[in-house]
Amino acid sequence: TYIVNDSCIACKYTDCVEVCPVDCFYEGENMLVIHPDECIDCGVCEPECPADAIRPDTEPDMEKWVEFNRKYAEMWPVIVTRKDPLPDAEEMDGKPGKMELFSE
Ligand code: SF4
Ligand code: F3S
Repeated sequence: TYIVNDSCIACKYTDCVEVCPVDCFYEGENMLVIHPDECIDCGVCEPECPADAIRPDTEPDMEKWVEFNRKYAEMWPVIVTRKDPLPDAEEMDGKPGKMELFSE
């Protein structure tokens, strides 16, 4: 599966949702997640994210991100259409310590 990590927080560009063939992105207040049980591992969303927030779970230490994505995918509504990024997206892109800004 692929997952969204904390680089999405406070950016939420949403370019990713337009390309997903199985519509498995879910939207929280300031980030998206992927449902790991619905993702078919096609990889087309990864290069679409300007914040480089979409990663394959084959990278090291990804278990916590898979569980994080599953947890919120089951709570949040699906998103299938691109919308405007959050207002400070460019300024926040690449900033460290974003987890402190996470909003359920
Ligand atoms: Fe959707 Fe493919 Fe990205 Fe999985 S890897 S979230 S199926 S676009
Ligand atoms: Fe987030 Fe990147 Fe999609 S910033 S909303 S994962 S395009």
